[in-house]
Amino acid sequence: MVSSFVYVLAAPLLVQAARRYNIVNNCPSTISVFINGNGQGPVPSGDTITRTFNNNFSGLIYSNANGGSSSGSGTTRAGFYGPDDYYYIVKDSTNFNTGINITPINRPSQFGFCVSATCNSLTCNNAYSSPPTGFPAQTGSAPTPPLYECPTPNTGYTVTFCPTGLFPPVLPPVNKGTTINPNGNNNKCLDVRGAVFANGTPVQIYDCNGSGAQNWIVNRGNTKVQVAGTNFCLDAGSSPGNGVGMKIWTCYSGLAAQAWYYTDDNRIALTGQGQCLDLTGGNLSNGNRIQTWQCTNGNNNQVWT
Ligand SMILES: *[C@@H]1O[C@H](CO)[C@@H](O)[C@H](O)[C@H]1NC(C)=O
Ligand SMILES: *[C@@H]1O[C@H](CO)[C@@H](O)[C@H](O)[C@H]1NC(C)=O
Ligand SMILES: *[C@@H]1O[C@H](CO)[C@@H](O)[C@H](O)[C@H]1NC(C)=O
Repeated sequence: MVSSFVYVLAAPLLVQAARRYNIVNNCPSTISVFINGNGQGPVPSGDTITRTFNNNFSGLIYSNANGGSSSGSGTTRAGFYGPDDYYYIVKDSTNFNTGINITPINRPSQFGFCVSATCNSLTCNNAYSSPPTGFPAQTGSAPTPPLYECPTPNTGYTVTFCPTGLFPPVLPPVNKGTTINPNGNNNKCLDVRGAVFANGTPVQIYDCNGSGAQNWIVNRGNTKVQVAGTNFCLDAGSSPGNGVGMKIWTCYSGLAAQAWYYTDDNRIALTGQGQCLDLTGGNLSNGNRIQTWQCTNGNNNQVWT
C-alpha cells in the first residue's frame, strides 16, 4: 500500500462527485461511439463528448467505425473497472478498427500509476485480446500492462479514438483462401483436425463452420494445397498409396508429397503418382480422415469442389 498511499497524498485533492469521461474523436471522419452497447450518437471528427458516471463505473467504450460493430466485436475498446481504479485497452485480433489512447485527467503519472495507455496497431503489446473476466486485487504497486491503475478518487479519463489522426493503415489484401468441399457438398469441408496447425495433424472431413482450419489455398493445375495464413500444406507422406491418411506438414517447395495437380474435372491428384485425394469410404461423418487412393474415373469420392 505504501506507494499508492504516498501517491494519493501527493495528488491534488479535487472535490468531484464522479468520474468524467472525455471521449475525443481524432479520427478523420465522424464515428459512432458506444458505451457497453449503448449508442452515444455520432461524434464528428475533432469533437469531444463528455459522459459522467459514478466511481464504480465498469465497462467498455468503443466505436463501430471501420468494420467494428455496436456489440464491440471487431473493435478496439477502452475498458474501465471502477471499483479498483483500473483501466485497459482491448483489441480484436481479427479487426483493428481504430487506435485508442486512455489518459487519466489531471493525474500526473507516478510510480507507474496513472500512465497514458495507447494501442495504435494490432501488434501493440499492451492490450488484451478479449475483455478480462476478472481483475487482480489492488496492491501497493502499479499493475503490469495491459492492466493500468490510477488509484486516486474521482479520476476521470480522456479516451481518444485514432490518436494518430488516422484510421489504421489498410493491410495488404491477404489471400483469403477457400473451402474444399466433397463433390459439390457445401456443408462438408476438408478440415485440419482440431485446428491444430502442427506437423502430422490429420486432415479430415467436417461440417463447414468458417474455421481457419477449413480455409485452403489451391489453384488449378500444379498446386500446393496450403492452409491459408499458415505455412502448412496438405501432405501425402513419403510412401504414397491406397489408404494412406492425409495430414498437414510444413510446406516445402518441390516436395513430392505436397505436389498436387487440381484437374479441370475437380480431382486433386498427387503429381505423377496416379493417386487422388479421396473421401475415405465415401463417409461424410465428421472426423473421417481423408486418404489417397488410385485415381479412378467416375469415382465421386475423388471429386473436390
Ligand atoms: C461496483 O461494481 C462492482 C463490479 O462491477 C460490483 O460488484 C459492485 O456491486 C458495485 N458496487 C456498487 C455500490 O454499485
Ligand atoms: C469447427 O470445426 C472444427 C474442426 O476442425 C472443430 O474443432 C470446431 O469445434 C468447430 N467450431 C465450431 C464453432 O463448431
Ligand atoms: C465414418 O467415419 C466416422 C468418423 O471417422 C466413423 O466413426 C464411422 O465408423 C465411419 N463409418 C463407416 C461406415 O465407416
